[in-house]
Amino acid sequence: MKSRKILVTSALPYANGDIHLGHLMETIQTDIWVRLQKMRGHDCLYVCADDAHGTAIMLSAEARGITAEELIAEVKASHEADFAGFHIGFDNYYSTHSEENQQLSSSIYQALDANGHIARRSITQLYDPEKELFLADRYIIGSCPKCKAPDQYGDNCEVCGSTYSPAELIEPRSKISGAVPVEKESEHFFFRLPEFRDMLKSWTRSGTLQNQVANKLNEWLDDELHEWDISRDAPYFGFEIPGSPGKYFYVWLDAPIGYMASLENLCKRSDYEFDDYWKADSEAEVYHFIGKDIVNFHTLFWPAMLSSAGYRTPTAVYVHGFLTVDGTKMSKSRGTFVNARTYLDHLDPEYLRYYLAAKLSSGIDDLDLNLEDFAQRVNSDLVGKVVNIASRCAGFIGKGFAGKLALEPDNLPLLEEIQGAAEEVSQFYEQREYGKAIRLIMTFADKANQYINDKQPWVIAKTDKQSSELQAICSTGINAFRLLMIYLKPVLPAMAEKAEAFLAVDPLKWSDLDTLLLDHTINKFKPLMTRVEMDKIKAMIEQTQKNYETQQSSAKKATKADQQSEQDNTGFEPIIEFPDFAKVDLRIAAIVAAEQVEGADKLLRLKLDLGKDKNGETIERTVLSGIKSAYAPEDLVGKLTVVVANLAPRKMKFGVSEGMILAAGPGGEDIWLLSPDSGAAAGLRVT
Ligand code: 2FM
Ligand code: ZN
Repeated sequence: MKSRKILVTSALPYANGDIHLGHLMETIQTDIWVRLQKMRGHDCLYVCADDAHGTAIMLSAEARGITAEELIAEVKASHEADFAGFHIGFDNYYSTHSEENQQLSSSIYQALDANGHIARRSITQLYDPEKELFLADRYIIGSCPKCKAPDQYGDNCEVCGSTYSPAELIEPRSKISGAVPVEKESEHFFFRLPEFRDMLKSWTRSGTLQNQVANKLNEWLDDELHEWDISRDAPYFGFEIPGSPGKYFYVWLDAPIGYMASLENLCKRSDYEFDDYWKADSEAEVYHFIGKDIVNFHTLFWPAMLSSAGYRTPTAVYVHGFLTVDGTKMSKSRGTFVNARTYLDHLDPEYLRYYLAAKLSSGIDDLDLNLEDFAQRVNSDLVGKVVNIASRCAGFIGKGFAGKLALEPDNLPLLEEIQGAAEEVSQFYEQREYGKAIRLIMTFADKANQYINDKQPWVIAKTDKQSSELQAICSTGINAFRLLMIYLKPVLPAMAEKAEAFLAVDPLKWSDLDTLLLDHTINKFKPLMTRVEMDKIKAMIEQTQKNYETQQSSAKKATKADQQSEQDNTGFEPIIEFPDFAKVDLRIAAIVAAEQVEGADKLLRLKLDLGKDKNGETIERTVLSGIKSAYAPEDLVGKLTVVVANLAPRKMKFGVSEGMILAAGPGGEDIWLLSPDSGAAAGLRVT
């Protein structure tokens, strides 16, 4: 087999937040793939880094009274510890705020510029005159120009779902200082993406992307492509653009270059050569594992930049879906937005590695971590099946034969069958069909257990603890266990290491599947994994909730003074007279159906039952509501809500909405509807 030269990356986590289960799904997926390649003898490098630039990081550091450099150093250390806790085997974990990255970003930019791929023009943006800072949309809040809902972000309203430009917001304020933003002009630099349409079209079709992703990309490529704004004005935490004082590279320009910089840094202290991976005609393979939210950066801007600057483009970009917990988006208040550290305080990292592997496929669908299923699956497969094989056989081999194994030809078919799947299992891993690999491996675990059940070594041991039949049966069991551990090693590296110690063998490689342990002495068996306890999962969720509440209350204390001064003039405006109010027909409605709205980030489509009209006919309404961040459709069906029943239907971007439901809460994932259960109340008027 020819050894491949492979470079693999996962997305670079931002340097101002903790690693959480969402990040881990990606790094675990990547790590399993890399471990498989390494076990198969390929020359595979896995590099990553913290994504250290941008306004958010600058402001976080400021809020904590430390420098951005101090903040990113602290966060990097904690990210590295978290990833190590989950056995993520990076060959290098670096930072985008590095000399290598500055040098590469500058030279790539200069190449783009020299090729005529950089445009310069003035644009007008909202500017915070107090903070002296241009404001990205998410740093501007105000009332929605359509429905007047207060505290909506720069470009779309979470309440009514309409979209607008930040300049249209009523009474806009800077989220940072509270000042009223003003419009200000400045020169920006743009990457001329439209010039790469043809190049991207052929790149997309060259087997680099999953079908769903390629289809989406083709839509974009058939549509209007926009030039990409790659500069930001000072103050900004990032790299100054060469020759343009006061202008900085937008964080997303130097972030993917951070993949290269991390490799470059590794090359400096090893025999690896940067050019072997990145020069235009490189034969090495380069793979990026990313989430579906950052596809445009990796499949449009990135390959276009690389090709303009004379580098090779990625072999493939592997996109995955999001992680949900118990069927819904991870939520801080529900305690399901679990940080890596909180998880590690309570549970074994390999439970998660195994569970995710068992559910991962090569598609971009979301993956659900169902906590009960998680416990049940790990206990039944790993503890109940795999470890069980070893623990059932090890005692007899230890006591009767001083740890010595001996096989007999009669016992070989089971082992040969397991060995025979080597190619299939490795192909499943290679294609990121980990779920299929695990299912196949578990069928062999079942067969091995069945074999032991059939042979009943414990019955033989009652009469003769040293019978050669007993030795052969248990040696077969131990060999089956060894083969299964080779298959599972990309997923369970720590358990594999314990198994290697028990089996008294060198680190297991894929080629070890060709051999069996014949004349070999094993060590005393020690438990390889303990059962998942539901109590520990509960404790992890509670701790997450508690951390969130503590954070919330300290944030509240910090802003109380600000709020106090704001309350005096925050607008209950316009004041409505009683006759206006009396026009509003509020009714209790039952939610009879709820679904996602294709293409909408915030909206759900709800079908409401408002009770019966005078003729006894059910009154139904379809309402588009901006509550997706708080509810999954399936959680809503059967619940009650209050609806404004006589609102004129409104045409919105995603269809017509025939009413408006009322909800309470600060927004985001904390939006509350009326009642936990449905009943006969639908149609009641709210009085
Ligand atoms: O979305 C994110 O979390 C980004 N920090 C990912 C960057 S990936 C790469 F391009 F740097
Ligand atoms: Zn609105």
